[in-house]
Amino acid sequence: MNSGHLLLLGMGGTIAGLASDPSKPMAYQAGQISVAELLHEIGLESDIGHVEAMQVANIDSRHMTEELLITLGWAVKAGLEDEAVIGIVITHGTDTMEETGVFLHATLGKLASHYKKAVVLTGAMLPSNADHADGPLNLRAALYLAKEAKDTEQYGILAMMAGKPCLARDLSKQHTHALDALVVNARELDGPIHKRQADLSLPGEAQWPWVEILTSHGGAKGELVDALVAQGVEGIVIAGTGQGSVNRVLAERLVWAAQMGVAVVRSSRTGAGAVFSEIPEPDTAWNWLSARDLSPPKARIALQLALLEANSRKTEDWQSIFATI
Ligand code: SIN
Repeated sequence: MNSGHLLLLGMGGTIAGLASDPSKPMAYQAGQISVAELLHEIGLESDIGHVEAMQVANIDSRHMTEELLITLGWAVKAGLEDEAVIGIVITHGTDTMEETGVFLHATLGKLASHYKKAVVLTGAMLPSNADHADGPLNLRAALYLAKEAKDTEQYGILAMMAGKPCLARDLSKQHTHALDALVVNARELDGPIHKRQADLSLPGEAQWPWVEILTSHGGAKGELVDALVAQGVEGIVIAGTGQGSVNRVLAERLVWAAQMGVAVVRSSRTGAGAVFSEIPEPDTAWNWLSARDLSPPKARIALQLALLEANSRKTEDWQSIFATI
């Protein structure tokens, strides 16, 4: 039996959303009710013990900012370091949950494992007042996952959606409205996975590097690359076709961008699977890097963190840091 309490951090999202007509749940506003209200609605105190609710933000996650990611990161760190907190749950919009997931995994995953605590991201695909709202079930399951982490040894930065627990790093939204949109291709949870010896530093005030995502498609033009380089972009993630292949017109300008010092990472726009090094593009010769199993939005956050870390530590290049996320 664990003593201590759970910490519930609210970020907003559909789980805190309201539809003007509950029978038409596709039309709603995200981030309308507080995380304390969500907790109150599921009425769990008797079997889960005390849960401390803290509202960090109440937004539609499409409006997530780097400042908010940092605020959330420091709130999670404080919770992990607090002996009275046995686990943390974060309610978050599903649209960018995978980005927050990879951010927390890279910066706080080792710390969470060190303290044998779970940080569980959850959200909902239906607003809180929809007839069959999925939020209450997801929140309940996430709280139990966080509470039991020490006993089950499932700690680290996790997620719980549609009854499926997974590593938050494995989240990837692959459907516009299915209830399991984020976890449909996530691996089963099988203990924490960390390739790094230590967490990456939690960004502070520092300016995050400017990294954009460019999609490869038939009829691609290279001018966008030229414009971005002229404006000072520091990294470009390619959302390539299939295995991360790139239209030759775009590829030519991106090879030039890499020569100009822009960090270029090649991912796939397909939504699932991995992009392997050198297949089908010659990454080494072009000074690009493959994103492996990171989706374009996750690769963007990972590249920002890798560039930040490489700039501050100067002992490791961004490529070797990126490869460990
Ligand atoms: C959001 O990401 O905040 C809106 C969509 C959702 O939570 O499902």
